[in-house]
Amino acid sequence: MPYPQFPSNFLFGAATAAFQIEGSPTADGKGKSIWDVYSHTRGKIRTGENADITCETYRNPERDLALMTELGLNAYRFSISWSRVLPNGRGQVNQKGLDYYCRLVDLLLERGITPFITLFHWDTPQALQELCGGFAGRDTAYYFADYAEVVVKALGDRAKNWITLNEPLEHCAFGYLLGDLAPGHHNPWEYIRAAHHQLLGHGLALERIHAASPDSRVGLTLSLTPIFPATSQPKDIAAAHVANQFFNDFFLDGVFKGSYPDPFWSKIRLVRPSVKTDDMKIISQPMDFLGVNYYSREFARAAWNVPLLGFWVDETQVNHREQVVNGRQYTNFGREIYAPTFYDTLMRLKNEYGNPTMYITENGASFTDVVENGEVHDPLRIAFLESYMEAAAQAIRDGVNLHGYFIWSLMDNFEWQQGFSKRFGLVYVDHATQQRIIKDSGRWVAKMIRGQGLPKSGQ
Ligand code: FCB
Repeated sequence: MPYPQFPSNFLFGAATAAFQIEGSPTADGKGKSIWDVYSHTRGKIRTGENADITCETYRNPERDLALMTELGLNAYRFSISWSRVLPNGRGQVNQKGLDYYCRLVDLLLERGITPFITLFHWDTPQALQELCGGFAGRDTAYYFADYAEVVVKALGDRAKNWITLNEPLEHCAFGYLLGDLAPGHHNPWEYIRAAHHQLLGHGLALERIHAASPDSRVGLTLSLTPIFPATSQPKDIAAAHVANQFFNDFFLDGVFKGSYPDPFWSKIRLVRPSVKTDDMKIISQPMDFLGVNYYSREFARAAWNVPLLGFWVDETQVNHREQVVNGRQYTNFGREIYAPTFYDTLMRLKNEYGNPTMYITENGASFTDVVENGEVHDPLRIAFLESYMEAAAQAIRDGVNLHGYFIWSLMDNFEWQQGFSKRFGLVYVDHATQQRIIKDSGRWVAKMIRGQGLPKSGQ
């Protein structure tokens, strides 16, 4: 099988998030996060599971590191649990929590793996949720910047790549509007406040990180989802335009242009927050890179019954098993496998947003993996990765400023409201025994990295 060709200094990594892998929710003085609360609320996790153990990474980070070395990764994206470092989200620092991340960074560096650290991957400290509504409250943006400074002061001498937020769209839209992620609210006022305050928090943190560690590189990770009209009717075309602004351009325009896009911004005038004089300046300060999470395209249509926004995105063909519908292969998350729009998205960032330095900070797929004689054969994941990585390699050849690719995920983990039912890993994890098995796709990735002649230790 041919391997996609990347430049020789390209970073190949895998991504994870604290809540999804760490477990040990109360160890060493950790405070609760909204995900600890949400995942223990009856009926919220589809499988009834929780993440109290998950991959046991907090207890044993070395086990994950050995896997990274075996896969030949030269970069690793992980997130820090805010409430491990600041159990109340602000104030008193929990040194033991901070020490854990210092040790993790040291372990990575010893193995020649470059850390990319996400400061917020959806797990707001519960104390701040109670104090001011999490990011729906403006104060949280300022507490977030304080927290970022605490972390960067402790790690910034060794770790140089920082991602302020992961996917503000998902946290805000699914957490505050659609109720599918923590904190599980259905409130349009909170949703748009949270979105604005997340971007404000990003801008404030960016300043503080640069001040604390001048040679650090700071970026923001957005999930980008190209939206197509479900039909050629003008009303669906108009709906897709608004949907695109809701999913993508609200965040892209905010950080790259310092404004929010119309008609979306006008449509939500009844619920939107007041934007203070300097907010957009703070939000749109130049950042060092954009992190792109890419999963699939979606189709939107006009929906008279959706207040303010007037669109709905077609239900993906989920019935929780991978299937082919109308000649197209879907993952068991119901996501269509279709790499051309990934290429188009990267080209759009080049042409419309000034070709920023970029990293793919997440891309991957879940399938129904089974263990057969101690092995996991996942040809669909290999085909997926091959087509998406080839699209990225083509985008680089066409001038896109892309420097690294983090596969979601290093290993099977707690997939939010889907519990352990969705496996995205390059490594299979039996969460009851903590046994790990490198899947065929993991071996494919290891070979691909070796094939590029990349130094194993990333020097
Ligand atoms: C992304 C999240 C990540 C993981 C993948 C499958 O939206 O950032 O934590 O759940 O989806």
